Amino acid sequence: MFREWFVPIIKNGINDPRNLKPQINLHILKKLISYKVAKTPLAIMLEPACRCNLNCPLCTTPHKYMTRKQGIMNFETYQKIVNDVKDFALVFYYNFAGEPFLNPHLLEMINEAAKHKIFSVVDTNATLLTNKRIKEILDSSLNVLVVNIDHIKKKPFEEFRLGANFNRTIQGIKKLCDLKKKEKRGFPLIIAEVIVSRENEDNLQRIYDFAKYKIGVDKIWFKPICFPLHSKGFYEDHDIHELVEKYLPVKSPITRYTYNGEYIEMKNPKENCDWERKSLILWDGRVAACCFDYDGQYIFGNINDTSFLDIWNSQKYRYYREKLIKFKKLELCKNCSIL
Ligand SMILES: C[S@@+](CC[C@H](N)C(=O)[O-])C[C@H]1O[C@@H](n2cnc3c(N)ncnc32)[C@H](O)[C@@H]1O
Ligand code: SF4
Ligand code: SF4
Repeated sequence: MFREWFVPIIKNGINDPRNLKPQINLHILKKLISYKVAKTPLAIMLEPACRCNLNCPLCTTPHKYMTRKQGIMNFETYQKIVNDVKDFALVFYYNFAGEPFLNPHLLEMINEAAKHKIFSVVDTNATLLTNKRIKEILDSSLNVLVVNIDHIKKKPFEEFRLGANFNRTIQGIKKLCDLKKKEKRGFPLIIAEVIVSRENEDNLQRIYDFAKYKIGVDKIWFKPICFPLHSKGFYEDHDIHELVEKYLPVKSPITRYTYNGEYIEMKNPKENCDWERKSLILWDGRVAACCFDYDGQYIFGNINDTSFLDIWNSQKYRYYREKLIKFKKLELCKNCSIL
């Protein structure tokens, strides 16, 4: 996802997202130089809320199996993050474990980051798009909003997004797209993300047409499904063969796994992990290893009592990044399905 947004960021600049003239502004250039020379991270994933209003059966960050404390990021912690990383961070992904819109300050946070030329991407289950929030989103500095449209029928949608109401969710997304067009707003770009499973692989064109022409999103992404095999307790609670039978695509090439009737394995795994150049900050300010570390097993420090760069350059974090994360040698990597 990061690379996909890298070019638009540079082309559009983020000073004025409505300015579509290709340009690299000075702030962006400085951040790119810092990334290359000082090896600071360009992208940071944040957790505005470690809480969710849904209970999706295959959530990759399932709260059910978490042993860490859950909560909402407060604005002071967030402000400290921005102050610490504003000179080199180019993108914030507000989408780790939970529903970001459960944080009442989310859009304020995004506006604060935008003052420092930090590009914003939010993934949401889109169930909380009230009329008021739709207006606030369009008035904010949000650059990209990713909404999930995995199905276009009520039953499978509500089963895959357990707790969501299909009609209300789709209406909310449509209202947002309609108002964005009516007010001729360039941003946020609204992306429909479709998780490809056996349940929808025969309908991908229909889902595309529905999202693009009936709802009016700007772009559609098809994403391979992940099974949260890394979650402690998931194996015990689930029959993997049943899950594979129900969800693993058999026709679509958009899949990360192969299955031989007994074992499920990654298809063409990459040798290296790009989390050695990114960072994850949990709701309580702790800096963790990667987006698979949903339970905060690998913690390198807390932003509330140490500066981000001190944590980033600490011996422990450097060792982990350069020797373990990069070469996928964490215990967690054995079941990682993102790479
Ligand atoms: C854990 S969610 C958090 C953000 C928000 N609650 C949401 O669902 O969009 C982050 C991303 O993971 C995606 N996701 C959830 N379960 C998944 C699965 N089993 N396979 C692939 N992606 C998944 C979501 O669609 C979302 O894009
Ligand atoms: S809405 Fe997102 S965070 Fe919440 S359970 Fe579903 S996938 Fe997980
Ligand atoms: S689990 Fe390992 S391979 Fe997967 S994202 Fe984390 S560090 Fe990278």
